[in-house]
Amino acid sequence: MGSWGLGLRREFLAEFAARSTDIQLDFVEIAPENWFGFAGPAAQELERVLANKTLFCHGLSLSIAGPQPLNWDFLGQLRRFLCDHNAAAYSEHLSYCQDPQGYLHDLLPIPFHEESLRWTVARIQQVQDFLGQPLILENTAYYGSFPESSMSELEFLLAVLDESGCELLLDLNNLFVNGHNHDYSSEAFLAALPAERIRYFHVAGHFQHPAGWLIDTHDSGVAPAVRALLRQAWHRFGPRPTLLEWDNDIPPLDTLLEELEGLRRGCDN
Ligand SMILES: [Fe+2]
Repeated sequence: MGSWGLGLRREFLAEFAARSTDIQLDFVEIAPENWFGFAGPAAQELERVLANKTLFCHGLSLSIAGPQPLNWDFLGQLRRFLCDHNAAAYSEHLSYCQDPQGYLHDLLPIPFHEESLRWTVARIQQVQDFLGQPLILENTAYYGSFPESSMSELEFLLAVLDESGCELLLDLNNLFVNGHNHDYSSEAFLAALPAERIRYFHVAGHFQHPAGWLIDTHDSGVAPAVRALLRQAWHRFGPRPTLLEWDNDIPPLDTLLEELEGLRRGCDN
C-alpha cells in the first residue's frame, strides 16, 4: 500500500473538482506561489478538491542554492499558505532560479563542491527554522557540469541530507535522465540513499534527443526504465507517496488516472 498523487493542473481543475469524491487518488500537488492571494472560481474549486484530498505543495521559487539573499517576504507568504491550507508536505528543488536580474523561471544546476555545500546547507537551515519543518528537496535534472565541481552529484546530495537535516523528494525520472546523460548507474545511486530520509517519489516522462541525450520533458507517460526504477525504489525503501508529473501536452484526466493505475499495479506486483 502506498499513496498516489497527481499534479493539480489548471487545465483540468474544474473537472477534478466536480469529480473529486469519485477519483481514486490520495493527494494532489500544487505550486503554492501560483496560488498566493488567489480568489474566485478557481480558488473555490481548489477548496472543493482539498475537502477530500491531501495537499502536497511543491515550490518553484525558493532558489535554495542560489546566490541571491533568501526572499523573506515570499517565505512569510509561503508559511501562511502552508498553514491556511493544511499542507501535508512542502518540497522544493536542489537548484536555483534567481540571479541579480530577478527570477529566471528555470531550475538551474549548481556546482558540487564544499563552498556551494556550506552555502546551501546554511540556507536550508534558515528556511527550516523559519517554517518549523524539514525542507524536502528534489534531485533535479541537469545537462551540463561545472569544471570546478569536486564532488559527485551523489556525494553532494548525501552531504546536504546529512548536514542540513532536510528530506529528499526522489524524482526517479530525473535520476534516470541524469544517470544516462552523466554516465552513472541510477541503480547504484538509488542503493546509496538513506531510506529514512526519502519522503516521497516523483515520476514523469522524458524525451530522447536524436543526439542521445535524455530531456526531462514531463510530456508523456513514464518510460519502462523509470517504471522499473520506481519498482526498485518501492522494494528497497518501502512504499512512499508517489506522484505522476505531466505538465506539457497534458492528456485528458482519465488518461492520467489510467497511467497512475498502471504505476500502482507495477509497484504492487
Ligand atoms: Fe519532479
